[in-house]
Amino acid sequence: MLEVNHIDKTFLAGTPNEHHALCDVSLHLKKGEFVTLIGTNGAGKSTLMNAVSGTFWLDRGTILLDGEDITYKKEHKRSAQIGRLFQDPMKGTAPDMTVEENLAIAYARSKRGALQFALKKSDSAFFREALADFGMGLEERMKTKVGLLSGGQRQAVTLLMSTIAQPKLLLLDEHTAALDPSAAEKVMEITNRIVKQQDLTTLMITHNINQALHTGTRTIMMNAGKIILDLSGEERENMTVPELLELYAQKNHGELDNDRILFSE
Ligand SMILES: Nc1ncnc2c1ncn2[C@@H]1O[C@H](COP(=O)(O)OP(=O)(O)OP(=O)(O)O)[C@@H](O)[C@H]1O
Ligand SMILES: [Mg+2]
Repeated sequence: MLEVNHIDKTFLAGTPNEHHALCDVSLHLKKGEFVTLIGTNGAGKSTLMNAVSGTFWLDRGTILLDGEDITYKKEHKRSAQIGRLFQDPMKGTAPDMTVEENLAIAYARSKRGALQFALKKSDSAFFREALADFGMGLEERMKTKVGLLSGGQRQAVTLLMSTIAQPKLLLLDEHTAALDPSAAEKVMEITNRIVKQQDLTTLMITHNINQALHTGTRTIMMNAGKIILDLSGEERENMTVPELLELYAQKNHGELDNDRILFSE
């Protein structure tokens, strides 16, 4: 479903702050695969998602989505096919609009590629049903301005907005990291359900190494702009958190002490 082939990106090339953020990165995700992505701060995880979303042009390499070469496709055009969530629950929703209006915009945009929307009764019933499925009581708050919701409720709405039109790819950039533990758990539960229901191809960045090993079916590790580990199948099933930390240390020449903190839950 997603094919990232030998991509390279250097920021601020030719300046003292030049940074080679993605170095010959290749990654293939099969339809319905749920992949977790870990790595220390600055490893290039968000940059990889930005590359897939089209935030900048690549220096080299190609990106294909469902067989289509999207390497030179503009970001706003890709957004209909790619759902994305960030750590900050404030991102991705319009705070002064109601839950229902936010959902209607997301739905209309993805269906018609336009911003105009008309709230149809049938759409409203569809949103209500989808929200009720979350078990957070959000179906009773459809007329509430999104800005008044809690972080967890807001992330749940954003998750529904990002997936309501069944995108080809879902990118989650530490989308539960800013939430309290119970809200994080709830949002993760909803995430798992939506991914399963839609058989969504998903890439999720997390700093929680336990979650990285036990969510989805495959775990990828990045360091200094490169993919340094790709675990799946039996190898992943048998891997423990301490073993993975040890493997990380080996691949990074003994930086375990620092990374233990960064990877802590
Ligand atoms: N637009 C940009 N301009 C300049 N440098 C950038 C840009 N985007 C990312 N970088 C740099 O690329 C490197 C990788 O950043 P990135 O945000 O991908 O890290 P990350 O793995 O997501 O880290 P974190 O876990 O902290 O979110 C960093 O050194 C960052 O400063
Ligand atoms: Mg990041």
